[in-house]
Amino acid sequence: MSLRLGDIAPDFTAQTTQGEIKFHDWIGNGWCVFFSHPADFTPVCTTELGTVAKYRADFEKRNVKTIAISVDPLNSHVEWVKDINETQCTVVDYPIIADPDRSIANLYDMIHPNALDNMTVRSVFIIGPDKKIKLSLTYPASTGRNFDEILRVIDSLQLTANYQVATPANWKDGEDVIVTTAVKTEEIPAKFPKGHTIIKPYLRTTPQPNK
Ligand code: BEZ
Repeated sequence: MSLRLGDIAPDFTAQTTQGEIKFHDWIGNGWCVFFSHPADFTPVCTTELGTVAKYRADFEKRNVKTIAISVDPLNSHVEWVKDINETQCTVVDYPIIADPDRSIANLYDMIHPNALDNMTVRSVFIIGPDKKIKLSLTYPASTGRNFDEILRVIDSLQLTANYQVATPANWKDGEDVIVTTAVKTEEIPAKFPKGHTIIKPYLRTTPQPNK
């Protein structure tokens, strides 16, 4: 059965380009973006792994570690990283998991044989400090992922974990947010002293409370 939001992300031990890791211990007390790519030495994947490396400061600022996986072996990952660094003008300094027996890919249901034979599709899992899955995305091999969207979701997840708010369509960090329906309208001024707008009884907005 596939993994669902709120499930504990399965733990595993793996060989990576940064040495052996035990996944949950490696995540530690922060957040994690765990993403699969179909194969080494392929063009879209090369741009994706380079982009994640270039976004290092954006992930660190949010206390997020990144880790990639494919079913290729470790020596292939090590050679390919040299190409990524060269062509994408960056340094990939986060781990890439080698999963030649597909055991981790199967654990996370990253192989979709009707779409792509024997390779991982482009899965993304955002995992919280409690090791629970907060988001999962699946993209086809032909479409490189938008890592600005991943950062945007992390901003929303980290905000909504701490305040009784939700974020509207296309929200970006710094914009107004929605007060959840768990908060009665008369409670809003005390909980959200920056002000609020009642558009409908079920649609109340407030400035982002942590800004
Ligand atoms: C790519 O990363 O370009 C790619 C990988 C596997 C299949 C198709 C494209």
